[in-house]
Amino acid sequence: MILIDKILCLRSELMDFWFMSLTTISRNEIPINSEKYGEKRRYNTTQEHYVLPVDQQEINRLNTQHRAVTSIFEGLLPNAIRSIYRADQGKGKRVLDVGCGTGQWLIDLVEGYPDVEEVIGIDITLLYPPSFPNKIQFISHNVLEPFPEEWIGRFDLVQSRFLITGIKDFPLLLERLSTLLRPGGHLVVVEPEIKCRSTIGRELKEVAPAMASFGELSYEAMQIFGIEVDATQNIPNYLENCGNFEDIQKEMREIPMSDWSDDPKLKEIGFIQSSNSLALPDTIKRLIISSGLIDETDFEIAKKEYQDEVRIGKGKAVLPIWSTWARKK
Ligand SMILES: C[S@@+](CC[C@H](N)C(=O)[O-])C[C@H]1O[C@@H](n2cnc3c(N)ncnc32)[C@H](O)[C@@H]1O
Repeated sequence: MILIDKILCLRSELMDFWFMSLTTISRNEIPINSEKYGEKRRYNTTQEHYVLPVDQQEINRLNTQHRAVTSIFEGLLPNAIRSIYRADQGKGKRVLDVGCGTGQWLIDLVEGYPDVEEVIGIDITLLYPPSFPNKIQFISHNVLEPFPEEWIGRFDLVQSRFLITGIKDFPLLLERLSTLLRPGGHLVVVEPEIKCRSTIGRELKEVAPAMASFGELSYEAMQIFGIEVDATQNIPNYLENCGNFEDIQKEMREIPMSDWSDDPKLKEIGFIQSSNSLALPDTIKRLIISSGLIDETDFEIAKKEYQDEVRIGKGKAVLPIWSTWARKK
């Protein structure tokens, strides 16, 4: 037990050391000690309104979220696309992940489909790990800035996942991403709804009032920051209106907020998700407080009440996640 603790401690120290070195090489990122908000989190300053932190805690949260999402969708790709990639292990395919975060989706993709030809992850922050398969290139690039000429029409698969807090204009994003696909290539967009739901046939606010009001608070704060809070449900229409896509499909799955389920698989996914659910308030604390809707004291009260309800699985709450995919004409 002591040995395991020591190994975990050493691993955590190494991760901290790695993250410190990462921030020094990340030219576009200035660490901010956000003590104004009673916290020591780092934020990206390249994009004024990218509101989530970029630090070790966020790396952990994103990797946990990745595990929960790929478990609930039973894989890295929507079923219809997965069968294409399974048939030939991704042979010759060129893949781009925009806003790739920690890069874990790409790392798992290369492991699952070892014959993919080219794998690129772009992001405005560099959160990827110190070692990764050498087939992957991580590039610092804002998805709203012009793409390299040679990327136009190059990719077989473009993924955009959980960019809702970073992108204000989804129709523009989708239009831009369509230019990167070759005809017949696929775009996959995965986004969560902002508010949880109860699965016991009643409104969340009746059965888990603190979770419901925290969801409302987050939703309103995001609106104040100009985030398109309902983008998730609008994406199929945006793809349709873009005119460059066909065979537009979508699928919604619900991630349990904690391990309340009697179903062993959902219980396990809920267990993975619970640390993410509990970390959520601190992830969006700066956003919420700077929206002016609530002060720090009330925020801490709301956070604790929300976390208490998450822990006991109140309302058997779930977070709906939508995967939408389409083929380039
Ligand atoms: C919530 S994280 C999701 C990361 C990853 N896609 C995942 O699913 O784990 C959002 C990521 O989008 C990146 N991002 C936000 N706006 C961006 C932009 N304009 N261009 C490129 N990356 C962006 C952020 O730096 C962050 O890493």
